[in-house]
Formats: sequence, structure tokens, C-alpha cells
Amino acid sequence: MSLRQRLVGAVTAVTVLTLGGAFTAVSVTVNRAQERRLDRALHTQASEEAADVAARGAGAIEDRPGPAANDVGPLPKYGAVYSEGGAVLAATASLGASAPALATVRRPLRAPFDHWLRRDHLRAVLVRVPDGSGRLVLLAASRADLDGDERFLRRAMLQVFVVAVAWTILVATWFVRRLTRDHEVITRVVRRVAAGDLTARVASRSDDRELAQVGGDIDEMVARLEVLVDSQQRFIAHAAHELRSPLTTLLGELSHALRRARDAEAYRAAIEEALGAARRLNQLANDLLSLARLGAEVERPAVTVSLSEVIRAAAAEVAPQAAAIGVTVAPGGAEGAVAGQPSDLQRLVRNLLDNAVRHSSRGDAVRVSARTLGDTVELRVADEGPGVPAEERARIFEPFYRVARDEADDAGSGLGLAIAREIARSHGGELSLAPDDPAAPGACFVLRLPRAPNLTDS
Ligand SMILES: Nc1ncnc2c1ncn2[C@@H]1O[C@H](COP(=O)(O)OP(=O)(O)O)[C@@H](O)[C@H]1O
Ligand SMILES: [Mg+2]
Repeated sequence: MSLRQRLVGAVTAVTVLTLGGAFTAVSVTVNRAQERRLDRALHTQASEEAADVAARGAGAIEDRPGPAANDVGPLPKYGAVYSEGGAVLAATASLGASAPALATVRRPLRAPFDHWLRRDHLRAVLVRVPDGSGRLVLLAASRADLDGDERFLRRAMLQVFVVAVAWTILVATWFVRRLTRDHEVITRVVRRVAAGDLTARVASRSDDRELAQVGGDIDEMVARLEVLVDSQQRFIAHAAHELRSPLTTLLGELSHALRRARDAEAYRAAIEEALGAARRLNQLANDLLSLARLGAEVERPAVTVSLSEVIRAAAAEVAPQAAAIGVTVAPGGAEGAVAGQPSDLQRLVRNLLDNAVRHSSRGDAVRVSARTLGDTVELRVADEGPGVPAEERARIFEPFYRVARDEADDAGSGLGLAIAREIARSHGGELSLAPDDPAAPGACFVLRLPRAPNLTDS
């Protein structure tokens, strides 16, 4: 059962109980009051009839009009006089020969009671004739008026009751619908999102502050989900695209080499090409794995890492490549220690150094240094290359993004800086590109990490 149905049901049930109770009480009270009035009239007249019988014998029961218990006038009267033994001594014409046997109307004296005589419903009372003869007078009046009033009241109240309940259901339904309109919108949106429609929004205009807040939060959550799913899809498309080109080279070289017999030199050249493509594939697979691992990072125990050690190891890794193109990597002052993963931090610095070396020309220098500033450790990698064009600065940290001029160069896939930034963030820090400085052309990447607690360079 929906919330709406339950609310309408509850309001209706309360109305039915309250109205039903009130109407029953009114009907019982009114009927009782009328009955008491009739009883009083019956009583008075029965006493007078009995006194008459005592004074004048048994024949006087006809003379008097019936008891007047309503506003219309005297009621038809039924009366009979019984001997002590139960024989009918006299009866009104209304009873005629069919006066009831005393045994059937034998009740406590002076206590009014209901009695069915053929098809007439009567209110009756039995009194003693006050002459010591033991005779009894039965006086009865028709209940038809009383019963009619009771039926009328019951019918009228039933009609009011039905109308009131129908009205309550209508009003409650309208009101509950209004009240739960915003819940309904939220439910619909959540269902659509669950079914995969990320364009659904609550766009709440609710007057209820809390509901409006919930609606706003849901919209924000869905918007974030949309961005996330979108970027994941773009990531997968990029990854597939990047995997394809070395794979195409690899397959092309191998099938070309097999097409006909060649000399050793030609095979060697083909294998070298294939090996190059396989290396790029390997590199790409490693980078993708690193990103996936960093994205799903489980807390690993952090160790204190000396930045001078990290810089030394990373510089050693890029040294052969730097030497090959005549670039010097110059570690400057390097003090500072952070808490984290040594291999990740080394990879971060290596990615920065690798970029710097690749964008340098013969004779240029790449400078790398670290220092502690209060609670932060700052590491800088600066080169003398062409720098990053202003309009692309914001995007170079995106996975697969490469500055237009470097797109043809197949040494990288555009994941290096994305990985570096992820590592920085997983260490509670940030990696950014320093603003352009006309005095120092080239790119300068700045890594800021929280200083290892209570430790300096170790
Ligand atoms: N030191 C740098 N000097 C100039 N451009 C750089 C430098 N480092 C990175 N970039 C630009 O940022 C892009 C993204 O870098 P990265 O994520 O490491 O990818 P990749 O090195 O595989 O191209 C590079 O393609 C390059 O255009
Ligand atoms: Mg790179």
C-alpha cells in the first residue's frame, strides 16, 4: 500500500469512527428522551385509569383519550382490566377480543415495557387498582410515532454520514496528494536514475525547506554521477584508441615479416619495430593499471620517505635518456620528508623529470629541488624547454591529454601527469604547474605535500 493510500485510509478511519460514535450517541440520547416522555404520560394516565376503575367499576376504561406523549395529540389508547386471577374484565375497543393474556404482559408493576400485539408495537405499563381487589390495569400506547422518529433520525444521520465520509475521502486525497507531491517527484527521479537515465532532475520548488534540500542534494549527486560516468566513458574510449596504434604496428610488422622469406637483417629490423610497439603497449598497460590502482586506493601503511632519496632514485632512472640528448639533470637543495609510499613518490618525480627531459634541447638543464615550508614540503621540477601554452595549462593533467604540438610524438600517451597528480592527491597534497615566469622560460611543476610528522629529512 502506498504512503498516499495509507494516509487517506487513516484520515477516513478516524472520520468514520468519530462521526459513527457521535451519531450513535445522538440517536440513543434522542430516542431515550422521547421514550421517557411517553413513559411519564403512560404512568400518569395508568394511575388515573386505575383510580377510575376503583371508583366506578370496570367499564370506564374507554372514556379518556390516550396519553399525549408527542406534540401532535393523544395517541391511540389500548387498555384492559384484569381480575386477580388473570381474566380480562374489560378492554378498550382497540383491543376488542384480542386483549393479551395477563401471563404475556406480567411485568413488575409500574415499570413500562415494550410489547408486540399482532403487528402493533406498543409501550405498556401494568398498575394495580387501588381498592385492594387485586385487579390490574394494563395501559398501552402505540410506539409507531416513536419508532418512526427513530427510523427517520437513523436514515438522516446515515445520509449525512455517507456524504461526510465521501467528502473526507475527497478532501484527504487532495490534501495528501498536495503534501506528497514532492516525495513523488523525488521517487520518480530516483527510479529514473536507477534505470540509468542520468539526465533526470528533481528541480524542486518545494515550500518545505527540508524536502527542497533533499531534492537539491539528489540533483547534485546525479549531476556528479553524470560527470563521472561521462569521464569514465571518455577514458575507456581513449584507452582503447591508445592501445590500438601500437597493436596495429605490432600486428603489421609481424605479418609483414612472415609474408615472405627475408634475410637476417630485415627480420631484425622487423623484430625491433615490433618490440618498440610491444614496449609502448607494456608501458600503456602499466600506466592504466597504476591509474586504476590509485583510483581504487586502499589505505596502505605509510612510511617516512626522504625526498632527497626519491629525487636521487628518479634522477638515476632518467639519466641515460637525458645523457643521450645532452641534457643535464641537476638536483638542487633537497631536504624534507613526507609520509607515504616511496615507490609511488619516485614514480611521480620520475614522470615529471621524464617530461622535463623530453621537452628540453641539447645543453639545457633540468633543475629539481625540495624544501620544507612550515607544515608543507615543496618539490619543484623546472626545465628550459618551450613550456606549456597558456590555453592548455588547465588540461595537461587530464588523462590522455597531450599538448597539440606533442601529439605526433609516440613516446608518451598522456597519462604521466594524470598519474602524478593522483599520487600527489593520495598523499594529501597537490601537483600544479607554476604560473609563467618571463624571467625563467620553460615549465615548472610544483608538488606540495604535508610534511612528515615530527621529522625532517631522514
Ligand atoms: N615539462 C614540460 N614542458 C612542456 N610541456 C609539457 C611538460 N610536461 C608535460 N607537458 C605537456 O603535457 C602533456 C601531458 O603530459 P603527460 O601526462 O606526462 O603525457 P605524455 O608525457 O605522455 O605526453 C604532454 O603531452 C606535454 O604536451
Ligand atoms: Mg609524460
